Amino acid sequence: MRRYTIAVIPGDGIGKEVMPEGIRVLQRVSDIFGFSLEWRYFDWSCETYHATGAMMPDDGIAQLSQHDAIYLGAVGYPGVPDHISLWGLLIPIRREFDQYVNLRPVRLLPGIDCPLKNKQPGDVDFWVVRENTEGEYSRLGGRSGSGENETVVQTALFTRRGTDRILRYAFELARKLGRPHVSSATKSNGLFYSMPFWDERFAAISAEYPEVRTDSHHIDIMAARFVMKPEQFDVVVGSNLFGDILSDLGPGCTGTIAVAPSANLNPERRYPSMFEPVHGSAPDIAGRGIANPIGQIWAGAMMLDHLGETEAGAAILEAIGSALMGGQCLTPDLGGSASTRTMGMAIAEAISSGG
Ligand code: NAI
Ligand code: MG
Repeated sequence: MRRYTIAVIPGDGIGKEVMPEGIRVLQRVSDIFGFSLEWRYFDWSCETYHATGAMMPDDGIAQLSQHDAIYLGAVGYPGVPDHISLWGLLIPIRREFDQYVNLRPVRLLPGIDCPLKNKQPGDVDFWVVRENTEGEYSRLGGRSGSGENETVVQTALFTRRGTDRILRYAFELARKLGRPHVSSATKSNGLFYSMPFWDERFAAISAEYPEVRTDSHHIDIMAARFVMKPEQFDVVVGSNLFGDILSDLGPGCTGTIAVAPSANLNPERRYPSMFEPVHGSAPDIAGRGIANPIGQIWAGAMMLDHLGETEAGAAILEAIGSALMGGQCLTPDLGGSASTRTMGMAIAEAISSGG
């Protein structure tokens, strides 16, 4: 029997509420498709930070490295500054495991009200490929002076290796999806060094994929086009910061970020990859059992895809679609009154009845 060992980090806030639903659905689908999942729990979170002074133990990365994949809820909570929770857990995992691709589907699901006028499922359906290990998110820089003389420098770092490999991943993805079109997010009119370099590498890598159509958009107008004409995108590739913003804007255009998943991939599979919803720990609704579990569940489907269980992953997506179309089990963010658990159970049941 195919077996996978999964590190589970529920994290904070609604991370702890949506995780059991993700696991419920994955467990269900593994029973049906004949493979087994072994879950190992890690209670690393802001609570851990309060108790121990660290988001994870010193050998945290070594502990995680023993697993086939990492399934994460959300981290971050009021009382612990966000840069501590992020740089103490998520960013070390992404960087130590060289998860240089952050892959986020943007898809209008059936049964969800689209905030863009006259859009149907199929109209908004593309992928954001975000660079996940370098770029604008760096610890290069410093602060000096005080009062009116206070000066802050934050440096972005782009390597040829890091840039080429994310661009190449986007082209490979376009090829694999049978949608030979890649759009690059740039800002070479404002950023003097980094983005002209990015554009240069985009042109160089695209030459390796002559059958793939390309276009390049400054990040500001690209944001407008996500809203005005989302049909024009298939695969969008961006640096760490641009990709981060676009991959929330995209799901925002599909009605809610609560359903959006995210994969932090080490495509060479030298290290485990990590799967999580796009949303955070939502302190404003945490503890009430009303969070939408779809982002967590869909992230689980991406995890199965990565592990090679593609049919099982597809079955989860179908089940999400049919639960949404049924319309009886929607959480409050989708206009219903169902609990996190009810919605998770409805999706799990949709799988048992053949999706
Ligand atoms: P957030 O995603 O937690 O919440 C934004 C808004 O969306 C809130 O109104 C929330 O109620 C709503 N929302 C989010 N997920 C939902 C769901 N599943 N169902 C229903 N409604 C949902 O973002 P925010 O408020 O900026 O961040 C809160 C904390 O989460 C911060 O500490 C932040 O650093 C952290 N965070 C962690 C992330 C991660 O673990 N990857 C990603 C984003 C934020
Ligand atoms: Mg983000």
